[in-house]
Amino acid sequence: MSYTMNFEFVLPTKIKFGEGVSREIAAEIKGLGKERPLILTDKGLLKAGVVDKIAAALAAGGLQYTIFDEIEPNPRDLTVQKAYEAATICRADILVAIGGGSSMDTAKGVGVLMSHGGIINDYEGLDKVTKPICDLIAIPTTVGTGSEVTFWSVITDTKRHFKMSVGSPLVAPKLALVDPDLVASLPPSIIASTGMDALTHAIEGYTCTLAEPITDACGIYAIKMIADNLRNAVYTDDSQAKANMLLGSLIAGICFGNSDIAGVHCMAEALGGLYDTPHGIANAILLPYVMEYNYVASLDKFAEIAKAMGEPIDGLSKRDAAYRAVTAVHKLNQDLDMPTLKDIGAKEEDLQELAQRSSVNVSVDSNPRKAGKSDFLALFQKAYH
Ligand SMILES: [Fe+2]
Repeated sequence: MSYTMNFEFVLPTKIKFGEGVSREIAAEIKGLGKERPLILTDKGLLKAGVVDKIAAALAAGGLQYTIFDEIEPNPRDLTVQKAYEAATICRADILVAIGGGSSMDTAKGVGVLMSHGGIINDYEGLDKVTKPICDLIAIPTTVGTGSEVTFWSVITDTKRHFKMSVGSPLVAPKLALVDPDLVASLPPSIIASTGMDALTHAIEGYTCTLAEPITDACGIYAIKMIADNLRNAVYTDDSQAKANMLLGSLIAGICFGNSDIAGVHCMAEALGGLYDTPHGIANAILLPYVMEYNYVASLDKFAEIAKAMGEPIDGLSKRDAAYRAVTAVHKLNQDLDMPTLKDIGAKEEDLQELAQRSSVNVSVDSNPRKAGKSDFLALFQKAYH
């Protein structure tokens, strides 16, 4: 591969990875000179006792905290507003997001409102955020979003039923505490769906038009790590496989955070906006179809993906080797028992609308092969039938 482009690589987030690092939270908050954390999470994590572990560490460090636990999957603008009001009432000076992308993206939105005012919808798009946001510590509890290191907050605009993206390096968390202890008892179905989100990040980040050498290095490493570990993480008690998935998801986040996502996410976000489909499931359903459309535009990279996913490609033509990447993802979806577009309740009469929404996604120009509304429609139809 040769590179002639200029590029920039930004990683504003300090990362601490390892068993037990989430329990270092009180010292980290004090180190930042802060004292009133607001925890942003969901009721499921509270019930599962995950939040308790971190709350206990805060209390042991002598910090008073408040918990906002009303974050839902595919978080809405109204939830960001409600969480912002909670932050104002408790006079929070630092945010602690515990959860998957929903918690972290909501916390990023709250951080934006705390430093800028207004409503989150005012900041849709790239670089509308102009000042540092309230300090945010991200503690991921799924193996998929990579939101702990990305510059994006994806929030559903309830009026438009549209997933809008708020993006700026200023939105990135100050610190990511990435602790394998927190994913050790994650339900297999969540590992499968969030793991497919992470794989989609790595593949899209690696193949999109904004890819550069550093994101390539992260992307192909993450693809291999995820492909090597996802089945074991889902079907066995192998805690190393789960830790590796958490790490793969983080590295995939570093990749696509600096390059971009592409066609799969354009379509998956349309699905999520219309049907509230879990994000990882939406990506898993669409990933092989979009790869089949894209692989001709980047034979070298798709052949590398096939190799990283363990496909035997020696002796194959470049084109056949590249196509094996598509086959590998179909096989992975089968092994993980991923649903189809019909299974999740998509309706044929909605496909036009879904294609329209996909074609206006902020990342549409990042797809390695040019794609417009008619192409997205054809891909939705292929996935549907
Ligand atoms: Fe994603």
